[in-house]
Amino acid sequence: MNYQQRIDGLITRLTDNRLSAVALLPGPSLFYFSGLSFHLMERPVIALLSDAAKLRMVLPDLERVKAETATVNFELFPYGEQEGAALEALRQATAGLALEGAQVGIEPLRMRYHELNMLQIAVPRATFVPSEGAISALRVLKEKSEIAAMRRAAEIAEAALEATLPLIKVGMTELELASELTIQLLRAGSEPKMPFSPIVASGPNAALPHAVPSDRALAVGDSLILDWGAAHQGYGSDITRTFFLGESPDELSKVHEIVRRANAAGRAAVRPGATCGDVDLAARSEIGAAGYGEYFMHRTGHGLGLEAHEPPFIREDEETVLETGMTFTIEPGVYLPGKGGVRVEDDIVVTKDGGMSLTNLPRGTRVIG
Ligand code: CO
Ligand code: CO
Repeated sequence: MNYQQRIDGLITRLTDNRLSAVALLPGPSLFYFSGLSFHLMERPVIALLSDAAKLRMVLPDLERVKAETATVNFELFPYGEQEGAALEALRQATAGLALEGAQVGIEPLRMRYHELNMLQIAVPRATFVPSEGAISALRVLKEKSEIAAMRRAAEIAEAALEATLPLIKVGMTELELASELTIQLLRAGSEPKMPFSPIVASGPNAALPHAVPSDRALAVGDSLILDWGAAHQGYGSDITRTFFLGESPDELSKVHEIVRRANAAGRAAVRPGATCGDVDLAARSEIGAAGYGEYFMHRTGHGLGLEAHEPPFIREDEETVLETGMTFTIEPGVYLPGKGGVRVEDDIVVTKDGGMSLTNLPRGTRVIG
């Protein structure tokens, strides 16, 4: 990964956005710009990216060696365990960056009160403003190596599912199945920090888009939504397939075919120059035309990469124009309260020729158990 090139890209955008610096906490963006991972815990780690010559990081002394071996050279401000040591290190790190009276970018979904409060004490006359646009402008366009990592994450997830399917039996609980799928993800090569915990939703639970696996036992006639993903080099996959247990009930089988068509229509609408809204509309109108529009109550998809949900968002009102290298899910669903649900989710890369799916498991109706 060419971290310096990414940092240079950010610095250019900081100027455009009238930001003097950006403050990053441990997480996907810090990893993106440096390859460094830290746990987000009570001891603060704050990276300050202001220009190529002034990359600074406040961190606990016990993490110093990790930061010293990184590809990106941060000037380090390590602190010990004494009360107030972190704040003193932050004061030193911010000195000389000319941040007083300036705007400093933060990630609104990542920054915590803990660190923001320290920053405000260290640089009282700085203004802290959301800077997710400058960062996502870079992260949203995946490089070849990032797409290769995502492709591998998709292959691992698909292999894990194929290993799990023969083990699914009527009578086992959603939790047992979720545990089995997790084990198979690890066996197939997923990194332990998965993009999210597998969703296993059966019968009436499948009518809840973000159901949490429960102790409900799988029963004949259930629709079974499995939504799972693997991680490779920090990048994730996110796939959903819907199965039927023992037999396929009439209405849900019909719905499955409608959702499969909506998924195909969404994928077919992907091309550079189309908007996120165009893709949403393509999938949504398939379901609407079949009379199930009111039961598809979420967006068609979300960006995917170092995070399971990141820009671009495939929403009706999202005017972002698709560009080569963007990656996102297409996951229409229909949820019938009390009866069950169907969702079919794939991971798509925008190429010059259109949408390319990284996930290729069969999408048609499959009766298992
Ligand atoms: Co999913
Ligand atoms: Co998803």
